Amino acid sequence: MSESLAGKIIVVTGASAGIGRALSIELVARGAKVALLARSAEKLGALAAELGPRAMAIVTDVTRRDDVEAALAQTVAAFGNVDVWVNNAGRGISRNVDELTDDDLDAMVRDNVKSALYGMQTALAHFRASAGESGPKGQLVNVSSMLSRAPFAPFRSAYSASKAALNSLTESLRFQLAEAAPGVVVTLVLPGVVATEFGNNALGGGPDNRTMPGAQPVGEVAVVIADAIEHRKREVYTHPSYPARVDGYFAGLRS
Ligand SMILES: NC(=O)c1ccc[n+]([C@@H]2O[C@H](COP(=O)([O-])OP(=O)(O)OC[C@H]3O[C@@H](n4cnc5c(N)ncnc54)[C@H](OP(=O)(O)O)[C@@H]3O)[C@@H](O)[C@H]2O)c1
Repeated sequence: MSESLAGKIIVVTGASAGIGRALSIELVARGAKVALLARSAEKLGALAAELGPRAMAIVTDVTRRDDVEAALAQTVAAFGNVDVWVNNAGRGISRNVDELTDDDLDAMVRDNVKSALYGMQTALAHFRASAGESGPKGQLVNVSSMLSRAPFAPFRSAYSASKAALNSLTESLRFQLAEAAPGVVVTLVLPGVVATEFGNNALGGGPDNRTMPGAQPVGEVAVVIADAIEHRKREVYTHPSYPARVDGYFAGLRS
């Protein structure tokens, strides 16, 4: 594989498992240096050892702003900079709207919205602080979900709502930076069902995504996100069939 991302320094949250783990492997294979962030020291350490000197494990709880800021500082201290920050860590829920508690909603906002907000603000502050004459440069990548656009899975209710909020923050920031900092690209990633342990880790438990029909292999999703980084895309669905599914959902509402 060509080292098409050689020289890039990339932070990936939720790197200990699933999409973040597969993405980190793909990015290192493309020549990037990757800071691996998650809570599980053991899993991160094993992955960093497998990937070698281009990877570094930083134990981080992304729901804590201080942890996120410390992770940026550690990455800059070790690798000298951050070019791309990927907000991938997240958590699902398996409860219908009529079953949701206040705590459920708070958990979804904390795990899927505030976590990414801390990442966006922390990385953007770095892009601004390290700006040259042409202004801030960098890329922010937020991993959302197709359910944020078309919430066809009612049991994911507050999860889909939290990802819709993440989309809105992502798009607001993109509009803001289009004029204020055009060298910073803001990317939204929209996966469908991916074969990871996401379902098992959801608040309220299963079903297991890995056994769901049509679950996309995690390696395929990693390639789509790595391509979005390489080509600085603004929005990507992780499978070519998804935009038509979302368009069909909205067309159905209008019919
Ligand atoms: N799988 C799907 O079907 C699917 C579909 C659409 C979108 N997505 C989105 O894709 C992203 C990755 O999901 P996945 O499928 O890879 O899920 P996963 O297999 O459950 O992995 C989640 C990752 O996030 C980390 N994480 C969770 N909470 C964290 C916290 N507070 N601080 C730091 N790290 C945390 C976990 O590591 P630790 O436990 O070690 O902290 C783990 O590395 C999520 O944003 C998810 O919403 C997934």
